Amino acid sequence: MGYSFTPPAGNWANEPIERTEVLWIMIALSYCIFVFFWMIAWHWIGNQNMANEAYKVLPEAYSKKVEDFTAKYTVRQDKSDPSLPVVAPPPGSDVYLAASRFQWRPLVELQQGKSYRLHLSSLDVDHGFSLQPENINWQAYPGYEQVVTITPNKHGQFDIICNEYCGFGHHTMLGRIYVKE
Ligand code: CUA
Repeated sequence: MGYSFTPPAGNWANEPIERTEVLWIMIALSYCIFVFFWMIAWHWIGNQNMANEAYKVLPEAYSKKVEDFTAKYTVRQDKSDPSLPVVAPPPGSDVYLAASRFQWRPLVELQQGKSYRLHLSSLDVDHGFSLQPENINWQAYPGYEQVVTITPNKHGQFDIICNEYCGFGHHTMLGRIYVKE
């Protein structure tokens, strides 16, 4: 049993490509190049994409920043849980939020229409930052401090939900941002 294979005559591997095929390759290539640059452009043009900065930081060093920030601007303990401080930093300042199993700390209170530099990092494993009901998403990685400038344009209570599986208490991991008028 077996089969035989007879190559076609002549130097078939060097035959010129059919014209329509060249045309299709050119169309596909131009589209790839267009989409590649569009992907970069969309980062700046697209309203929903936030340009963030990122720095390397040790979890202990970041934890210290969060502690100092909390100590400096705590205004009260939260009604829902008196063990949670609510921190109200002045407009224009740096806001430090830390994710750790299983809590986003501290709770913060911001003012509508004012800008803040929001810093995010994790003290242990990967966590998610999903701001509800706005549906703004980031990831928090240990070892990296991400900074993004935010200007809340609505007031009310916003919950931070961890949407990155981080362990047995993942589904209970929350944080909160209050925005005052
Ligand atoms: Cu933190 Cu899931």
